[in-house]
Amino acid sequence: MGDGNVKQKLKASGVRTLVWDGKSLKLIDQRELPFKKIYINCSSTEQVAGAIKDMVVRGAPAIGVTAAYGAAIAAAEFSGSDKDEFLSHMENSIKILSGARPTAVNLFWALDRMKKILYESKHLTVDEIKQKLLDRAKKIEEEDLSINYRIGKNGKDIFSKNKNKLKVLTHCNAGALATSGYGTALAVVRSLHSAGKIENVIVDETRPYLQGARLTAWELYQEKIPFFIITDNMAGYFMSKKMVDAVIVGADRVASNGDSANKIGTLSISILAKYYDIPFYIAAPKSTIDTGICSGGDIPIEERKPSEIREVMGTRIIPDYMPVRNPSFDVTPSENITAIITEEGVVYPPFGKNLGQLMKK
Ligand code: MRU
Repeated sequence: MGDGNVKQKLKASGVRTLVWDGKSLKLIDQRELPFKKIYINCSSTEQVAGAIKDMVVRGAPAIGVTAAYGAAIAAAEFSGSDKDEFLSHMENSIKILSGARPTAVNLFWALDRMKKILYESKHLTVDEIKQKLLDRAKKIEEEDLSINYRIGKNGKDIFSKNKNKLKVLTHCNAGALATSGYGTALAVVRSLHSAGKIENVIVDETRPYLQGARLTAWELYQEKIPFFIITDNMAGYFMSKKMVDAVIVGADRVASNGDSANKIGTLSISILAKYYDIPFYIAAPKSTIDTGICSGGDIPIEERKPSEIREVMGTRIIPDYMPVRNPSFDVTPSENITAIITEEGVVYPPFGKNLGQLMKK
């Protein structure tokens, strides 16, 4: 996709997860959706890191793109011209950004790319390096959008022989809001819908943070893609009634052997899908594949604050004296995954061998 085309698509995509306005990064506040559509301005490293931590912005690719702009903002914050001081300021800022959330590897992937351009540009002036960093952040954003369209097409092609319209179940939000635009799992849904192939989307509400009920449903509603929301514990019921043809979800980190971390609850859905012989797809860009780890056991799982369990949208349902746990992700073992849909193609088992080949492309 050419540069102009990417920009056109960004403008046309309706939902703008993030907007660089020339000075600061505007993030749609995903904590307020679907009731309020407000943007938050980030113009410091701490604000960007805070926005990722507090889930103003969330979803693996969107976290990566936001962090990349965070590094560009960190560079702009530096006022001197001493190169060594600048580099140590950047190291420190990148450390702050990388501490925002632990599971989605896209955060570290994007910051590594920013670091690479930082050191490759070391011979330039501080102002020139600042420009290089900003250009790189914009490139990461644009590439992400273009990658998502390719994921959508590759996912759609899997179902090219299906005669009937599809009933797809998805979990969490792997949509435009979780990326620069168009989504990953929802890219496949959008692409299928454009081809007239979606009967409906079954949207898991996704306790405790309700990314499905609040965000995925909001995206589908805007685009008039038929859907209904269920509570997470209803997935088995709908599968048993033959009301799910395929499960398509995103991922936060895919290990070399195909084990995939995604929003808590994904593992249970994969087990149900296997039981009912329903294909289970992960849709994710190559930047979500972590070749540095062998299997899912090595993926750090974020444990978030107890109040997310004790409260639903600010309403208290569990008193403080009752203990709760809040792991935010789980790992679906590769044997439960039918295929992983990437921008470079659809990867089938054996994942160890085939993901290895994909990463060499
Ligand atoms: O805690 P979140 O909302 O950041 O978790 C998001 C997910 O689990 C998504 O499914 C994943 O990041 C893929 S987004 C394309």
